[in-house]
Amino acid sequence: MSSNRVYIFDTTLRDGEQVPGCKLNTEEKLMIANQLDTLGVDVIEAGFPVSSPGDFKSVEAIAKLVKNATVCGLTRAVENDIKVAAEALIYAKRPRIHTGIGTSESHMKYKFKATPDQIIERAVAAVKYAKSFVEDVEFYAEDAGRTDNEFLARVCEAAIKAGATILNIPDTTGYCLPEEYGAKIKYLKENVTGIHNAILSCHCHNDLGLATANSISGVMNGARQIECTINGIGERAGNTSLEEVTMILKQHPYLDLNTNINSKMLTGISQLVSETMGMPVQPNKAIVGANAFSHSSGIHQDGVIKHRETYEIMDPKDVGAANSSIVLTARSGRAALAYRAKNVGYELTKLELDIIYSDFLNFADKNKVVTDTDIHQIMKTSTVSK
Ligand code: KIV
Ligand code: ZN
Repeated sequence: MSSNRVYIFDTTLRDGEQVPGCKLNTEEKLMIANQLDTLGVDVIEAGFPVSSPGDFKSVEAIAKLVKNATVCGLTRAVENDIKVAAEALIYAKRPRIHTGIGTSESHMKYKFKATPDQIIERAVAAVKYAKSFVEDVEFYAEDAGRTDNEFLARVCEAAIKAGATILNIPDTTGYCLPEEYGAKIKYLKENVTGIHNAILSCHCHNDLGLATANSISGVMNGARQIECTINGIGERAGNTSLEEVTMILKQHPYLDLNTNINSKMLTGISQLVSETMGMPVQPNKAIVGANAFSHSSGIHQDGVIKHRETYEIMDPKDVGAANSSIVLTARSGRAALAYRAKNVGYELTKLELDIIYSDFLNFADKNKVVTDTDIHQIMKTSTVSK
């Protein structure tokens, strides 16, 4: 496999589903897992099997269903978690156990009341135990974003020696700056013995709105897996958004980093996840928001009507969205009005456009947007038609 390939690890059904109100039943999870598999993700994190009988059942059903992607179950560094995850994954073609432990000062001190050496011991034991069930073991160093790099390198080295082949470096609290997160990945690449046989993975949270930037910085510094969710859903402010990172890599080919994602499915799967989870997508959301390809100011509309690329850096069709739209508001200019009027059957001369435009502005100042029906109404009442 090319070293320029970035693996996409989707955690919509695990980290994403942790969001209050987003809980799904097994049937809904199967529907999303099937779409994720067709989308081309490399790994589907199906759940946290020990957390509830329902989650166990969903992970097991997803493991039976999925044909292409690796199916992964999350565990703590606890024997029973690992054993239960292995049972849930028994039917998977490509099973992965994702186990780990907190490594930052605050996690070691407050959560585990353990010394750094004890944390390493528990990490090693968990990886070895997971390895007794499956070949593919991913280790996460929770709160790696706030973990001292030297200690993090020691933990990673021990996890690799114990058999982990993927090392997840989560910015669990979404604290890092892109430069800092990238430097952390670079440090690990340069200082962990055995890292060349393993893959570093980015798992970034969005507490400061930096999840996507941090993940991109991670892969630019040597990570080769990104953990992300559809629509960026996840704990608190969410995770890295799958549609954002995959389109960033696609739209910047000079980075020479590729994924297996069929971008034309992005809008459809975003709507499926939003509707199934009852979690609306903000209109200004990059790539999949309702306004991602709609233009409303006169200057922009004039440019887009002349050539789409003046104000669009990607083709809406590439992400499965409908065409770009020209939205008529009180900020729209004559070019946009002429364009939309023509679409509904009015070919206006320059003089007619001048007259209609002033009627249009009077109407638009009193309304949020001007629809096709409104255009017909404005035409009917305008002096142009008299
Ligand atoms: O954010 C995080 O650290 C996690 C781990 C459990 C991987 O979700
Ligand atoms: Zn997380």
